[in-house]
Amino acid sequence: MNTDLPPETIFSGFKIATMANASTAFVCGFSGKPIYRSVIDGEYGLLENVSIGVRNGTISWLALEEEIPTHEPSLVQRVDGQGALLTPGLIDCHTHLVYGGNRAVEWEMRLSGKTYEEIALSGGGILSSVRATRAASEQELFDSAANRLRYLMMEGVTTIEIKSGYGLDVENELKILRVARQLEQHFPISVETTLLGAHAIPPEFKGNADGYVRLVCESMIPQARDLCSSVDAFCESIAFDLEQTRHVFEASAKAGLQIKVHAEQLTHTGAAAMAAEMDAVSADHLEFLSESDCEIMRHHGTVATLLPGAFYCLKEKQKPPVNALRKNGVPIAIATDSNPGSSPVLSLLLMGNMACNLFEMTPAESLAGMTRNGAMALRLQQEIGTIEIGKRADFAAWNVNSPAELFYSIGHNPCVGVFKAGKETRF
Ligand code: NIG
Ligand code: FE
Repeated sequence: MNTDLPPETIFSGFKIATMANASTAFVCGFSGKPIYRSVIDGEYGLLENVSIGVRNGTISWLALEEEIPTHEPSLVQRVDGQGALLTPGLIDCHTHLVYGGNRAVEWEMRLSGKTYEEIALSGGGILSSVRATRAASEQELFDSAANRLRYLMMEGVTTIEIKSGYGLDVENELKILRVARQLEQHFPISVETTLLGAHAIPPEFKGNADGYVRLVCESMIPQARDLCSSVDAFCESIAFDLEQTRHVFEASAKAGLQIKVHAEQLTHTGAAAMAAEMDAVSADHLEFLSESDCEIMRHHGTVATLLPGAFYCLKEKQKPPVNALRKNGVPIAIATDSNPGSSPVLSLLLMGNMACNLFEMTPAESLAGMTRNGAMALRLQQEIGTIEIGKRADFAAWNVNSPAELFYSIGHNPCVGVFKAGKETRF
């Protein structure tokens, strides 16, 4: 590290929740003295009186404020936090943000007693969003997704994963992935795209799920390869079975794409363990996950992504086994699952509140779930997710006294600044 050159930006006056691992020592950029996270608080890796140097969008040093060399003021830009909390930019690692229409009518049906499965089996559910998405132009899809994206960004989200899955044919799945990629061109956000061709059986293949899986494996995955980094599948009694899901993942691996899975949401199918054995980056939902599944996930480094919005909106009773995940050391990520059916959610902070109030997670685990572990669920942990030297300077600044306040109140957004690669964002 060359400390002679002035950094582009120095962030001072923040309380910093680094979210780095307990063993991390922060090497001071100038005196070389390590700053241990035990300075204040282990769980959040809190640091006070420490400044951050950012060069070319990357964190180049962390230093005690009294040790910062005085640079020629014109050479550096300074950001004064005035006591605000600085966290890594939030990561929403599981969304279905691009879709046409909405499903408020189905929500009303559910309120008067119909179940999610019943609606799906009678041609509604995912398939009604497929009709609306196929009918929408790329511009219409972009505009509605951009509108939703703004809400997430206002709460400090700097990286988002977006799945396709409401096209269910080659042309429309690619259309959704293109729209998702375009969002990154127009907003200060990083977008990771995932092909979810195996989300539901489209009307053209009714009664022929195997035929549709062949289309996904032989046409969709090869054609989507340059538009996505992962492939996901919905393995469930109302969607694809274990064997069909395995075929999709074999084709994904062959195409060099990462694997993610919607698993054990409504029933136990064994998909989380199977996907983990195929080196899935994450298994998501997991209400019906078993203890032995947890061991397999731990063994393969598969992240458990919990989605409290879908749990809440579907009025689920069975909670994901948070204790078993903890005991087995499986990293837990938290995401919105933003989608028109089971989770019409545009607040990651609310998901942090629900992870605590519904799943008995701690606020520190919730914040780790949308920073450090959210990054792992996208295999981006070398680049983002913590405030450490070498990571991208994606930050969110908050007007709170303690990190727990991020999730403590509902409907309150204390975000006072979002920085993408060191630059303050406006959108
Ligand atoms: O993650 N579980 C499957 N897919 C979505 C729901 C999609 C929908 O209902 O439109 C989910 O919950
Ligand atoms: Fe989902």
